[in-house]
Order: sequence, then C-alpha cells, then structure tokens
Amino acid sequence: MITGTTITQFIIEEQRRVPGATGEFTLLLNDIVTATKIIANDVNKGALAGVLGGAGTENVQGEDQKKLDVISNDVMISTSERSGHLAAMASEEMEEILPIPPQFPKGKYLLLFDPLDGSSNIDINISVGTIFSILKAPEGKKDVTAEDFLQPGTRQVCAGYALYGPSTMLVLTTGHGVNGFTLDRNVGEYYLTHPNMQVPADTKEFAINASNSRFWEAPVQRYINECLAGKTGVRGKDFNMRWVASMVAEVHRILVRGGIFMYPRDTKDPSKAGKLRLMYEANPMSLIIEQAGGASSTGRERMLDLKPGGLHQRVPVILGSKNEVERVVSYHKEAE
Ligand code: AHG
Ligand code: MN
Ligand code: MN
Repeated sequence: MITGTTITQFIIEEQRRVPGATGEFTLLLNDIVTATKIIANDVNKGALAGVLGGAGTENVQGEDQKKLDVISNDVMISTSERSGHLAAMASEEMEEILPIPPQFPKGKYLLLFDPLDGSSNIDINISVGTIFSILKAPEGKKDVTAEDFLQPGTRQVCAGYALYGPSTMLVLTTGHGVNGFTLDRNVGEYYLTHPNMQVPADTKEFAINASNSRFWEAPVQRYINECLAGKTGVRGKDFNMRWVASMVAEVHRILVRGGIFMYPRDTKDPSKAGKLRLMYEANPMSLIIEQAGGASSTGRERMLDLKPGGLHQRVPVILGSKNEVERVVSYHKEAE
C-alpha cells in the first residue's frame, strides 16, 4: 500500500510558496477533490446505482444529456457553492453562468467545468472524466457576468482533470508543473503517484477521429497521411493510432507516454470551428500539456493566447508532444 503525500498535503505545501496566500484556494481545491470522489463513486457503481442511460434532455450544445452528465453537474455545484471561495461557476451543461446563490458567501474565484467528459463512453464502461479550470474574478465587482469568464487560458490559476478509469486519478497544475494523484478507495484519499509529469517531445502515436477525414483541412490531411505512410514515407517511422473518445483519457495517455491528439477544424458543420469547447475543455487541457512540456494550438494560434468570444465557444484542438504539434502548425503556415 502507498503511504505518502496526500493531495491535501501537496496543495497546502504548494500554497506556502505563494506569498500572501490566504488558504482560500486550498479550500476551493479541496471541494473539487471531494466532488470528484463523489462522481467517481457514482461512475463506479454504474448500472447498480441506476445512473446509466440518457437523461431525456438536451444541453446548450444540442447534445443529449446522459443521467451522469446531470448528476455530475449537480455534484460539482453542490460541493463547491457554499464554501465562500467562488464568485460564480460555468459548466458545459448550463447555458448561463451560475452566480453563487445569495444565501452563501462569495469568494474571489471563478470555476469552469466539464462535469463529465466522454459521456458517449458511460454506458459502455469506458473511461470518462471531469475537467476543471479556475480563474480569478474581477476584483471589487459585486455581480459577476459571463464576460468576466472570457479570459485567455494564460490567466488560469489552476487546471485539472479527474480520470475515472481502472483507477481514479486526479491530475493538476497551478502553473508549477503537473502532478498526478491516485485515489485509494479504502482510505478515501488521493496520493501523489505521478510527480512532475512530462510529455516526451517526440512520439509515434496519434489520436484523431478518422471517420471525419474527408472533412479535414489540407494540413491535417497531409500530417495524417504522412503518419499512415509509416517507415516507407517521409517520416521514416511507423505510427500507432488510438481513439478513446474521452479527451481526458487521451490527454492522460499523452502525459504518460507521449502522443498527439487532434480534434481539428473540419467542414462537417461549417457553423462550428471544432468540436471541443475552449473554456472548459481546450484551455484547461492546454495549460496542463504546456506545463508538462508539450504544446497546444488551434493549428493557427497558441490555444492559451486565444481571446474567448463566448462561454461555450468551440475551437480546433491540436495538442501533445511538442515536435509533432509544431510540425502540424508548420503545415498550416505553409498552406496559407
Ligand atoms: P463530452 O462528453 O463532454 O461532450 O465530450 C466529448 C468529446 C471529447 O471528450 C472527445 O474527445 C470527443 O468529444 C469525442 O468525439 P467523437 O464522438 O467525434 O469521437
Ligand atoms: Mn467533454
Ligand atoms: Mn461533458
């Protein structure tokens, strides 16, 4: 059995390095950690708890909600709303922002989340996750608006995800590297198991939904064709392919053994710039990947530099091993 640094000890020690820190952030993270344990429990019980299947509703994206999407959203809210650390929250499953209800004290942070990522995998017992991003609320403002959330990804004070896989893990960055923790279910605590995670700069593994290939833009077509050509092609090496259809699982694989993940812009639905959402999918994952030495881009711009235009804005995503991401970006430049 592992005894060692618990996530709470780790966060407190990190907080000590920040001059003037009040401890508020530590307590906020503690709430999120608790929420992921509750969601992990529901995901783990699955059919036994009657939580599988559709909720019979649609979210703001026009996607069918699963029961667990709704349950996880409720858990994230109820666990974080009362402690007094947040000014407001925003979620994939809510069209509008959720200001902290008047009966609870207000704090200085904004929380964004994808309560359950990869929900098409819930009913088939494949890994899903929760993604979150923390921003600072504007100082001295009484009522926070949706515009206050529209800060570039570089302004995130923390980003993380929980992965509900064969084991439950929590991976976190506060801008000083990336650390991974594994939940010991018997103890009910996350322990530091993956200190200072690093994405290898090179890779032979790519992840993309190839069923969309006829809709991809030329630079992405070129990159994937070169990967597929393998040893006998211009890359001179064989590539492997993976597609879990849970971004959390793909990013986790990349953090552990490298790789490139793409959900690029395509022409399938010209009204959408991509599939993934900037504020609670692309930005937090990009901060984590960059903090682990990888790179993240839309193909044209660094993800974290984007000035968000809306809470539920979609973006093309190309992230992972630095040299591969830079190659795809260079193909975009050459094409323009
Ligand atoms: P969500 O379940 O939160 O809507 O996100 C699903 C996302 C992402 O996790 C995954 O990479 C992608 O959608 C899968 O897309 P395909 O269905 O096109 O494979
Ligand atoms: Mn998602
Ligand atoms: Mn989701």
